[in-house]
Amino acid sequence: MENQFSWTQQWYPLSPISYLDPAEPTPVNLLGKKLVIWRDNNQNWVVMDDACPHKLALLSLGKINADGNLICRHHGWCFNNEGKCTEIPMLVGNQGEETACKSLLSQVTTYPTKVAQNLLWVWTDHSVTPFADCTAQQPATIAETELDIDAIDWYMTGICFEAPVGYTVSLESSLDPSHAQFLHEGIGSFSPEKTVPIQQFENIGETTSQGGFTLKHSGYNRKDSCLS
Ligand code: FES
Repeated sequence: MENQFSWTQQWYPLSPISYLDPAEPTPVNLLGKKLVIWRDNNQNWVVMDDACPHKLALLSLGKINADGNLICRHHGWCFNNEGKCTEIPMLVGNQGEETACKSLLSQVTTYPTKVAQNLLWVWTDHSVTPFADCTAQQPATIAETELDIDAIDWYMTGICFEAPVGYTVSLESSLDPSHAQFLHEGIGSFSPEKTVPIQQFENIGETTSQGGFTLKHSGYNRKDSCLS
């Protein structure tokens, strides 16, 4: 169907850049898919499947070598920022290594990435042309006229704890700030005693072609108004 929503042909904010250590690979799970984030020698962030094509070891357990390639911890196969196998230590210097490295079977699927508003975004499609397709869309960033982006401390709950709920429940909850003082009592500054009735709650601006929207609401915790 022509206008059917594609879950994979989208830019997803994968992680705040401040959460990432450029010297170490970072595992992350997005929409049930295990991915690894790492940075090459050109300071480009790379996102690829977190599975070595040799024996499926987690590449996030590996390390980044002096050439800026990712080494699998299990048998040392090496992968560049395009997911191409560049070295197989047990075959170094012979025809077997060249043949194995050229094989599609030794490659790791990589995904387009982009940095915007201090977040790392990923395009999770693994069709034939994701690097061309992703240029037709831009990440759904926040209008910079609304906020001082550099002043934002991004907070990613999934890194701090596992919430055993479906993403639709979680998303719906984020549009329901009136729960915070009660459900999160004792976490941070949340407390029923600090409850302030929400006076303003409205959809502002345009709804994007992908259904994105911006809600503005007044404070509920003796704070100023904020955006969701
Ligand atoms: S499983 Fe990765 S090199 Fe063997």
